[in-house]
Amino acid sequence: MKRILFALIALAVIGSFAFVSCTAKKAADVAPKGAEAKGQALIGIAMPETTVQRWVKDGNQLKAEAEKRGYKAELQFANGEQPLQNQQIQSFLTQGAKVLVVGCLNDGVASVVAEAGRDKVAVIAYDRIIQNSDQYDYYITFNNFKVGVLQGQGLEAGLNLASATTAAPKYITLFAGSPTDGNAFFFFDGAMSVLNPYIEKGVLKVVGPYPKTSKDTANFTRIATEGWLAPNAKTRMENLLSNDAQKVTLDAVLAPNDTLARAIIEACKADAKYRTKLPVISGQDAEIDSLVAIRNGEQYMTVFKDTNKLAEAAIILADAIAKGQTPSIPGAVLASGDLKEIGNTGKKYVNAYLLDPIAITKANSNVPVDAGFYTAEESAKLK
Ligand code: BGC
Repeated sequence: MKRILFALIALAVIGSFAFVSCTAKKAADVAPKGAEAKGQALIGIAMPETTVQRWVKDGNQLKAEAEKRGYKAELQFANGEQPLQNQQIQSFLTQGAKVLVVGCLNDGVASVVAEAGRDKVAVIAYDRIIQNSDQYDYYITFNNFKVGVLQGQGLEAGLNLASATTAAPKYITLFAGSPTDGNAFFFFDGAMSVLNPYIEKGVLKVVGPYPKTSKDTANFTRIATEGWLAPNAKTRMENLLSNDAQKVTLDAVLAPNDTLARAIIEACKADAKYRTKLPVISGQDAEIDSLVAIRNGEQYMTVFKDTNKLAEAAIILADAIAKGQTPSIPGAVLASGDLKEIGNTGKKYVNAYLLDPIAITKANSNVPVDAGFYTAEESAKLK
């Protein structure tokens, strides 16, 4: 009996060793690395389009930052199609995402943001505000009014407006971004806050539609570029050159971003009038092709928004929200005073964290390079 008992105990001991080593092996086999080991909450990253270079970079950077902080990250691009973005977000929700980081296309996204709200999933509006929604609390972006101010100041300096006269006025035409993107309004209003006084003095003349501010909806719509699409800006510029701008030589173009600036430059280059001297043109995003154009004198300026920092800040924010902590985001200020409007969804004011944009001309065109904003391959284009 004793022997049997001993044998049984021995078997049990061996068995339990085997069990332990087997489960240990199993655990090692399936052991999730890094993030997964910590419970691996999912962050869903929904980016709007790939036609503007920055979004690809933003998406990849967000994913890397999320993974670095121990999250599982899913990245999707909506290719400019709003219904597709909603499907992508719904799929994040089905997968049990804890936080969503959304660079939206337009306010069509509000319906899935409401679904997220019902599921208690936090949404961070990334770079672009989600309008017509009161179902989310956080927005992280740049000081978009200042982006416009920097564009206006760039044109002011490039045209030397301070010494322009009514006898020899400068001629400008105006472009804005997509009317579906809340940022487009701030960019434009910021730029016009600098340019309007010169227009009022008569030393700067607007060729084509002149909305004094984005509140002049009829004229703003005429200068806006649906979907931020380069072909739309190019066609509009070609039409301007052969109509409103036919009898004058344009000295400047207010272009809201680099992708559109280069499309406008292309249209100008095809016009004999501008073969030797292009208008002074603004931009935004510090795209590598535009830095090349700035260095060779085709584009006058751009606005550098360090989106690597924006992505990092967004994930720091996501992490704080996921952990129920009060967010503290280095390099960002919580919008207050007049800037609070940046966080106005039309239905509520969300907490808007703002990073600072930097104006770039030929003189300081090394700034984005020094900030490590480009890959070695991209930087090589500048040599
Ligand atoms: C962004 C810009 C970008 C534009 C077009 C805006 O919302 O702030 O950086 O150039 O969208 O994608």
